[in-house]
Amino acid sequence: MADTTDNKTGGAEAYAPPRHIAIILDGNGRWAKRRGLPRTAGHAVGSETFRKIATYCKNIGVEYLTVYAFSTENWKRPEDEVRTIMRLLSKYLHEAIDTMERDHIKMKVLGNVAGLPEELQALVRKTDEISARYEGFQANICLNYGGRDELVRAAMRYAADVKDGRAPEEIGEAEFGNYLYSAGIPDPELLIRPGGEVRISNFLLWQCAYSEFYFTDVLWPDFTPEELDKAIAEYHRRDRRYGGVK
Ligand code: FPP
Repeated sequence: MADTTDNKTGGAEAYAPPRHIAIILDGNGRWAKRRGLPRTAGHAVGSETFRKIATYCKNIGVEYLTVYAFSTENWKRPEDEVRTIMRLLSKYLHEAIDTMERDHIKMKVLGNVAGLPEELQALVRKTDEISARYEGFQANICLNYGGRDELVRAAMRYAADVKDGRAPEEIGEAEFGNYLYSAGIPDPELLIRPGGEVRISNFLLWQCAYSEFYFTDVLWPDFTPEELDKAIAEYHRRDRRYGGVK
């Protein structure tokens, strides 16, 4: 996160930003295709966009930014595309390790880390170790992540605890959340999907129960702090009732 974007308030100064924003990174491939470039070029620009948006979120006071970078289903993509995404993620984490120490940023990978290449697993261990030392803005990168997979794993871990003697009726919604990859992280108030598709694609199925959704046709590599301000402004226009009445 070496970017020095210093726009502290942007166009959303009238509003406090949500505590937690989640984003589905989408549209990298189309962005590249429109320019006659290989899809992987879109991912390279997309990872720089993430750097800019994470810096902006930190500057305006967002506490958590969670992005969907690689799903449990993305392994089906061509081998060279998967390899490039893994390489970009390694490069990003390598660079982040220096800057997060300097800027006191926490970084967490959410997903089945054991299924990632060994080099990435080692980088995740290192970022976890650094993050444990700091409080402050936290970037969560979902890698080898699937919402259903997360729920099944949580249920299996809970079942194992019951087998070890834990009372099954002890569990409530808050307690179940502690079995998820996102344990300890508040639910996102705002979920943004650039790229024009209007679906959730197996992302944060439990955590988004009451999130406000914001969809835009802007492709992820073209996403800017101004686009984020628009999403935040729209979020503030929403009437959040949580199933109740006002
Ligand atoms: C979706 O666009 C994007 C991905 C599956 C990969 C996202 C990964 C990165 C940006 C690399 C590094 C990320 C970080 C956080 C450092 P798509 O390929 O599905 O686009 P399309 O719908 O236009 O084909």
